[in-house]
Amino acid sequence: MDRTGETVRVVGISGSLRRASFSTSLLKILAVKAAPAIDIQVVTLEDIPLYNEDLDRSPEVPSVASFRKIIAASDGVLIATPEYNHGMPGVVKNALDWASRPVFESCFKDKPVSIISSSKAFTGGVRAQYQLRETLISMHAHLVMGPEVVVGGVHAKLAEDVYQDEQGLTFMLRSLDRLREEILGRRLVCA
Ligand SMILES: Cc1cc2nc3c(=O)[nH]c(=O)nc-3n(C[C@H](O)[C@H](O)[C@H](O)COP(=O)(O)O)c2cc1C
Repeated sequence: MDRTGETVRVVGISGSLRRASFSTSLLKILAVKAAPAIDIQVVTLEDIPLYNEDLDRSPEVPSVASFRKIIAASDGVLIATPEYNHGMPGVVKNALDWASRPVFESCFKDKPVSIISSSKAFTGGVRAQYQLRETLISMHAHLVMGPEVVVGGVHAKLAEDVYQDEQGLTFMLRSLDRLREEILGRRLVCA
């Protein structure tokens, strides 16, 4: 079956709240480059409160309910995150803690997920990426396999929202192709 014309819907979660965030810029650039095969909806996490189990009941906190809903309605998730102190930023962990409930029945269960980490350092946030993988595994998300996408020296590659490293961009888009293939493969099984 030819599936080249099929669009898949992916939520692009930025791990940074910074106005001029490289992570958010990367997602916006990829959203343009990957369309129309992949429709990336970029979301940021400023409205998600700190996790509190006392608040995690009906009626849901509205911002959390809407976050869970867009993940549940998506075909897949792309997380673009910086590294903070050798780990993922607290805002990412916090949002995933909310999204992880109900445990083992959450909106992330079996959801295909890809990760891009970036940093000004040449290590490209690889430690945050591995920490994030562990958390996603605990949530029974489906990590899309393939070479890790780690963007080192990100500040030198982005200028005015244009990505200057063609090879790196191709590498990122290939990773998105793998995410799309995973999603389409599932549609085939379910059809
Ligand atoms: C609190 C804090 C801790 C950081 N720790 C690390 C780190 O451990 N490793 C690293 O490579 N970069 C570290 N950085 C640099 C960020 O990863 C880098 O500035 C990143 O590009 C910021 O992402 P953003 O542009 O999406 O906001 C840190 C930055 C901050 C603010």
